[in-house]
Amino acid sequence: MTDLLAEAQGLDARDPLAAHLDEFVDAPGVTAYLDGNSLGRPLRSLPERLAEFVRDDWGTRLIRSWDEQWMDLPTELGDRIGRVAIGAAAGQTVVADSTTVLLYKLMRAAVAASPDRTEILIEEGNFPTDRFVAEGVAAERGMTVRWLTADPVHGVQLEDVAAAVSERTALVVLSHVDYRSGALADMKAITDAVHSASGGVGAGALMLWDLCHSVGVIPVELDACGVDLAVGCTYKYLNGGPGSPAFAYVNARHHGVLRQPIQGWMGAGDVFAMKSEYAPADGIRQFISGTPPVLGMLAMQGMLDLIETATIDGVREKSKTLTEFAVRAFDDVLAPLDVRLLSPRDAENRGGHVTIGHPDFAEVTKTLWPDGVIPDFRFPDGIRLGLSPLSTSHVEVLSGVLAVRDALGS
Ligand SMILES: Cc1ncc(COP(=O)(O)O)c(C=O)c1O
Repeated sequence: MTDLLAEAQGLDARDPLAAHLDEFVDAPGVTAYLDGNSLGRPLRSLPERLAEFVRDDWGTRLIRSWDEQWMDLPTELGDRIGRVAIGAAAGQTVVADSTTVLLYKLMRAAVAASPDRTEILIEEGNFPTDRFVAEGVAAERGMTVRWLTADPVHGVQLEDVAAAVSERTALVVLSHVDYRSGALADMKAITDAVHSASGGVGAGALMLWDLCHSVGVIPVELDACGVDLAVGCTYKYLNGGPGSPAFAYVNARHHGVLRQPIQGWMGAGDVFAMKSEYAPADGIRQFISGTPPVLGMLAMQGMLDLIETATIDGVREKSKTLTEFAVRAFDDVLAPLDVRLLSPRDAENRGGHVTIGHPDFAEVTKTLWPDGVIPDFRFPDGIRLGLSPLSTSHVEVLSGVLAVRDALGS
């Protein structure tokens, strides 16, 4: 235990990103915030940014701000996320709606583009919203959902996807980082396999990745991996705040081919022409439907600045030392209490969170929160330690693990 504390302190002392820990708002009474993969912390600079927005951009410029900056914000911010975090060249990413609504828009557009194909392939343990939307889209189009079984700890494997894709597949929907175990899927190999097993890039099935648990914590290379479509939320590692809008990526080769189903005035070619018929805007803008949630796009801008300074590779390095340390602390302190590791052991195969399991964890979580130790509980018996690299220290991880031990013993 003393060794673990010394190790945590040593890792913090050598952490090149440690200075950023102070850039987040203090949470009085919280000793270990281990849920940055559900809701990232606000930055200290945010209250002033919000006040300035109310005073100047909204309060003084009033409706003029739409022309001066807000109309282009969804695509400018999308380009920025593309450049800083997900390896997408400009013009392919847009911020709008929730992840769920964007999933619907992209899935519906993808299957409509190949009407002769009858199947949507999705992993049976994927996040509920992904599965529910896939089932809804399949029902609307008279298609079949084909379920892929994956190991709950190691996640989706290339061979399983390759074996299930065929000339019947219209769309494959997978999470890059598994929301339960943190398992990291091989984006490039799986995307290539989906394309080649179904008819080739541009001719076969489309690949849609859910990046909710990857964006801002692990470098993603959408263009280099040849990905067709992606979505992700911004309230986890991009610290956009509760309900901040999501982003959608549509590879440029599909612009003008895919038609999204929620045709609204803000995605039309000439927004203020008030035409009698809808004609989509060029490029990624056509994936917008209604008025963008401008207020919800403020907080993530400060976090993108920070990630740009730290670099996404630097963030990933820290993420690995945090999760590796969490696994070491688990081995020493929790494994002897019959707690199970529900994440891959090798950091290369893991995203930013570590999941552990024990039959008493529902009760344990209830005792931790009032004491200021905040992981999250995942049914049926998992605790996720979500370690947001820029706002979490190794000592904080240790406090969390020790608190779990104490709660199990009490
Ligand atoms: C993998 C995944 N997809 C989607 C969502 C959420 O979708 P929405 O932003 O529409 O609530 C989450 C939320 O935690 C998630 O983890």
